[in-house]
Amino acid sequence: MKIDFQETTKDLAVRIDIHSKFGAKNIDAWMLDLINLQPNDVILDVGCGSGKQCFSYYDRLNGKATITGGDVSDDLLDQARAEDKRRNTGMTFVHLDFNKQFPFERNTFDFVSCSFAIYYAEDVPFTINEMYRVTKMGGRLFTTGPMPQNKKLFYDIIREATGKEIPLMPGSSRFSTEFLSTIKSMYSKVDLHLFENPLTFESIEPYMDYTRASMSEDRKLWASFFDNKDDFEKVMEQITEVAQRHLDKDGKLVMTKVVGGILATK
Ligand SMILES: C[S@@+](CC[C@H](N)C(=O)[O-])C[C@H]1O[C@@H](n2cnc3c(N)ncnc32)[C@H](O)[C@@H]1O
Repeated sequence: MKIDFQETTKDLAVRIDIHSKFGAKNIDAWMLDLINLQPNDVILDVGCGSGKQCFSYYDRLNGKATITGGDVSDDLLDQARAEDKRRNTGMTFVHLDFNKQFPFERNTFDFVSCSFAIYYAEDVPFTINEMYRVTKMGGRLFTTGPMPQNKKLFYDIIREATGKEIPLMPGSSRFSTEFLSTIKSMYSKVDLHLFENPLTFESIEPYMDYTRASMSEDRKLWASFFDNKDDFEKVMEQITEVAQRHLDKDGKLVMTKVVGGILATK
């Protein structure tokens, strides 16, 4: 599956900020409790973006870990490196494209994670196999991604506003199916955990900030919605109108994130 995708630094930051301000639950706490990291673990976070998970692992282990983050976006890696320098956390951030061989020896890591990124893999068995290869025997993989029922309201509003079908999302269409079954075929023990987080919006602005950061012109997934340059603002206006109608009727907009976490042991 060829995936034409680039995450921008700004869009990712906007979405992370909105999750933390409007979500009822904290996904980092859920994740940290599930994965139960051990002091001195050697950790790799694949698709680390600006390093969110790496810093959360560091804090949970009070710095007693060797942490590496890898991502294909040099912009996001620069952000992660700047934060590492600012906090003096001594982590390593490397350029890593998970569609190519990882720049690590086999059996290197106690724990490999990949949060909200794995589904951009073009060749699923190849990427999972690379994660497996660099994990030590008895080491673990944890990966998160959207479930099919994720963000129902968000997609309903877009559908109602545009009359268009939602493009196939590489995440929710494949995470709990193709990815789960590939991981099951390689690892010895595999469990799927669920996290549900309602995001409640009482005004339209942050909801539209989220929509813009999800559908942004840079995100090629939504290309079929924007035939020419002016279409983006036109579509945003249509969505604002429909979202406002829902808000007036219900007093709030509740968009529930439904996330799966696959925990697997090599
Ligand atoms: C939604 S972001 C998640 C970032 C981070 N894990 C987090 O939760 O904040 C998806 C990340 O996957 C990265 N990504 C996409 N394709 C990739 C590839 N082929 N190899 C490595 N990283 C990739 C993007 O650059 C981006 O940082």
